[in-house]
Parts: sequence; C-alpha cells; structure tokens
Amino acid sequence: MSNELILDASQIKRIKTYIKGLDENMQGGIPEGHIVLIHGSAGTMKSSLCFSMMYNEVLLNKRNCLYISLEQSYASILKNMVNMGFDMSKINIIYMNDLAKFGTLVKQINQNAGNLIITDIGCVRKQIKDIKVSENKSWLNVVKNIILKTAQEANVNFFTFDSLSALYTLSTFENPRMELFYFFEYLRDLNMTSLMISEESEDKANIFGSESFLSDGIITLRLTPFRRNIIREISISKMRSTKCNTDVFSFEFKNGSFYALYGGQNPLL
Ligand SMILES: Nc1ncnc2c1ncn2[C@@H]1O[C@H](COP(=O)(O)OP(=O)(O)O)[C@@H](O)[C@H]1O
Ligand SMILES: [Mg+2]
Repeated sequence: MSNELILDASQIKRIKTYIKGLDENMQGGIPEGHIVLIHGSAGTMKSSLCFSMMYNEVLLNKRNCLYISLEQSYASILKNMVNMGFDMSKINIIYMNDLAKFGTLVKQINQNAGNLIITDIGCVRKQIKDIKVSENKSWLNVVKNIILKTAQEANVNFFTFDSLSALYTLSTFENPRMELFYFFEYLRDLNMTSLMISEESEDKANIFGSESFLSDGIITLRLTPFRRNIIREISISKMRSTKCNTDVFSFEFKNGSFYALYGGQNPLL
C-alpha cells in the first residue's frame, strides 16, 4: 500500500479539505501521505479547520483519524466543536487519556464506522511519567509512540498534530531542525497523511523556514484588517503534486461548513 510509485496522475488519492471552493481549486484535495502545515496566527481557526477535516473524513469516509492536541484539553476541544455545530453523536469518538490502556480502548473501535481518536497533553504527560524519562527529551518520543500505536492497532492513517509550536515550547531540542527532519521522515515511513499546525510568531520565524521546506504542503490562514473589519483569509502557499490556485480567498464558516470565497472583492487586494 505505501510508497508505491505513482505513474499516472489519476492514481493520486486525495483527502478533501471540506472547504467549499478550495477543494475545487486543488484537484480535489490533499494527496494522501502528504505532510501539510496549517499555518497562521492565533485565532485563525487552524484547530477548527483540522477538526472539521477529521470529523468529515470519519463521518463520510469511515476513516480512522487521530487528533493530538498539546494545546487544548479534550474537554476544551469538544466544547469548541459542539459550539461550532458539529454533531458528535454522529461519529465514534474515543478519548485516549492513557496510552497504557490503549489495548482496552481499541475494543471501543467500531469496525463498521469511522473513529476519531482524540488525545491531549494529559495523556502525553502521563506517559512521560510512566516511562520515567526526563520530560525535556521525551515529548516527541511519546507523540511518535502514540502515532505508531494508533497506526498499527487502529489503522489510523490521517492525523492532526496541534501544534508544532507547542512541541518546541515543551521540549528542549539540541537541534530542532534535525529533530523535525526525522519526525517528518517517521511520518512518511508510516505513510501518514499529516496536518501539522504551525503557529505564526516572530521568534519562530527561523524554524518555520525548515518546517516549510520539509513539508509537502502549506495552507496559510490570516486575519487581515480591511477598513474597520477583520477578514479571515486562506491560501494554498504550497501543495506538491497538485495543480492549485494560489489566490487569496476569503475564509468563512457558516451553517456548519467552511468556505473559500472571493467575497465579492478583488482577491489580491
Ligand atoms: N461558531 C463559530 N462560528 C464562527 N467562528 C467561530 C465559531 N466558534 C469559534 N469561532 C472562532 O474561532 C476562533 C478560534 O478558532 P481556533 O480553531 O481555536 O483557532 P486557532 O487554532 O487558529 O487559534 C475564535 O477566535 C472564534 O472567533
Ligand atoms: Mg488552536
């Protein structure tokens, strides 16, 4: 299944972003196996967008997905998503609060439906304590372990990591660029389609250079002042193996769906 050579464009399988107006402008979605940065400043709806993609894949394609949040607790993620109108009763959600009990959790997997496994900082911290290694070095290892276990035992092949920026804050990497390189290699070996949330901030500008060349795609979200309004915007800055429209679209969430629109304005304003 993984890493087979693609010799015909029609063989490239894609996962939809479920943003109306954007999938149509990128040959249907993100190629499977891509590592895509979801980049933007705080409040640009990065987490909401990734959650929406996973929710829809679980609901419509019965895929098993994983959402790892180092920024928000499980309760906080659910509160946001319920407030946005996502009907949680329609999908099978599994909260993984302890990796050691993963064997029991796997039994909750519904083989006839999609499943969304959510894990948060509490689970990672517990695992670090359980294996009694120094916190500094183990965040990334525990994250990798969670990804590997869910891939092997629950067939997860699409995941969100929220966020790379939180990982840098929690860990002291001697060589962050190299760690990032090997993390991405690890995901590629698993053939994991990965949404990596990357927070825009000035002091992280240096590492963003490495994030961006190592990734297969970058979707950029912005909050742009326009007269007295702040407008949400979205653009595809990079998407390997994809013919895409790189225009800046206005980005809206209404009636339970995301939209990329020209908004009646010149998109290049
Ligand atoms: N129901 C809703 N409709 C539209 N926007 C919403 C809704 N609920 C929350 N938001 C917006 O989403 C923003 C937070 O989104 P979030 O995904 O947490 O952003 P980020 O992860 O980029 O920091 C809030 O600032 C709020 O403006
Ligand atoms: Mg967020």
